[in-house]
Amino acid sequence: RTEIKKLFMSPESYLDVSVTVCGWVKTIRDSKSIGFIELNDGSSFANLQIILEQDKLENFSQVVKLNVGSALVVHGKLIMTPQAKQPFEIHAQSIEVEGASTPEYPLQKKRHSLEFLRSIAHLRPRTNTFAAVFRVRSVAAYAIHKFFNERGFVYVHTPLITGSDCEGAGEMFRVTCLDAKNPPLTETGEVDFSQDFFGKLTSLTVSGQLEAECMAMAFSNVYTFGPTFRAENSNTPRHAAEFWMIEPEIAFAELSDDMELAQDMIKFVLSYVMEQCPQEMEFFNNFYDKGLIQRLKGIISSDFAHVTYTEAIEILEKAKDKFEYPVYWGCDLQTEHERYLTEQVMKKPVFVTDYPKEIKAFYMRMNDDNKTVAAVDLLVPGIGEIIGGSQREERLDVLLKRMEELKLNPQDYSWYLDLRRWGGTKHAGFGLGFERLIMYITGVSNIRDVLPFPRTTGSAEY
Ligand code: 4AD
Ligand code: MG
Repeated sequence: RTEIKKLFMSPESYLDVSVTVCGWVKTIRDSKSIGFIELNDGSSFANLQIILEQDKLENFSQVVKLNVGSALVVHGKLIMTPQAKQPFEIHAQSIEVEGASTPEYPLQKKRHSLEFLRSIAHLRPRTNTFAAVFRVRSVAAYAIHKFFNERGFVYVHTPLITGSDCEGAGEMFRVTCLDAKNPPLTETGEVDFSQDFFGKLTSLTVSGQLEAECMAMAFSNVYTFGPTFRAENSNTPRHAAEFWMIEPEIAFAELSDDMELAQDMIKFVLSYVMEQCPQEMEFFNNFYDKGLIQRLKGIISSDFAHVTYTEAIEILEKAKDKFEYPVYWGCDLQTEHERYLTEQVMKKPVFVTDYPKEIKAFYMRMNDDNKTVAAVDLLVPGIGEIIGGSQREERLDVLLKRMEELKLNPQDYSWYLDLRRWGGTKHAGFGLGFERLIMYITGVSNIRDVLPFPRTTGSAEY
């Protein structure tokens, strides 16, 4: 059995031998004594052209009546076709029908809306759009591992079930096996989680950062890459309840090192995907986002912009009439503000740094002004925030004071505080939302269309 991709790579080496290909029918048509099938096996974005001839194929009349979506094993001869659109074709000698399809198969040859395809997430990987999206997703994931491993980072696995809330936003899904109808209660009538599986209240993690920090204090440079969960009740094209995050953590490093790493990583992944997935990228460029390839090339070849939060507010205040949400020093930037900055003002990816401490998490390093923290977000055109990161507070006394302000119990974080007690060093890291990166690379505008089986508010099919 030969992968279709291999045939496209060097068709000449398959001349004069019998080849076997396995795949699914993308299109089928016939005219009297000859039939044409476009076959795809997922190894290549392009389809393979199969020629059926009545006098050469025993089950010709059965095969030409097959429906789109049928699974076939085709034995045939490869013929070069220099005059035709496709460089070669397979003349079938025999065909085994592994699994026939029916006329009710929902993916007929026409353009389906993304909304409709979302309702058949189990079948949509067979369409061109999702074949391209999920291949890019796979290649981009590999590129991320390649980038960090080539730089000597250690890939660490942080727990998915956790007893702490890294971001402090209270947007966690609880993990419990208590009987919801009849849970054990404490003397004061609250649910008694000490009788639960782990002996305490646990949740699905919103970020692997705190555990990654522990690992960075041993390996210096580490990264995580895994699923994270947020019970944000935001029904937007950019939020999922289950998404993947890449979180590097670097020791003996400060915010500028963090930003340099983020920029290098994004550029590496864009270049790698464009090099490895030329047909998929061409497809997105033609059908979803004209100018995509040109734009991504521009991003690779120039530096990202950088403004402080305070500068960003000054810029936004001048355009305040354009926004639904008010802009003032201290406000959390809304997507409309982020997109305005990156799309209208900078026209490229922009790092925004040094946010007010009130709108950021407890672990971020306090700046000398005592008002802002060494935080960084990366905003990109079309999406807004794709990265959130910071330099971490390594000074035990400052961290304890901040936790007290935020009413966090130091006992709950004793292990995290130990990192500051024994061999603490300045360190920094960030989290990249993997789906947002895929949206950015492909031009696909809804997060539901870059996750194979999306989980969003009110929706967890499959
Ligand atoms: O900015 P966030 O909340 O940062 C953290 O979690 C830090 N602990 C990361 C770190 O420093 N190690 O999330 C990081 C990124 C966001 O910039 C965004 O791209 C993505 O994660 N993200 C989401 N993506 C999809 N759906 C959601 N609900 C997301 N929430 C965050
Ligand atoms: Mg953030």
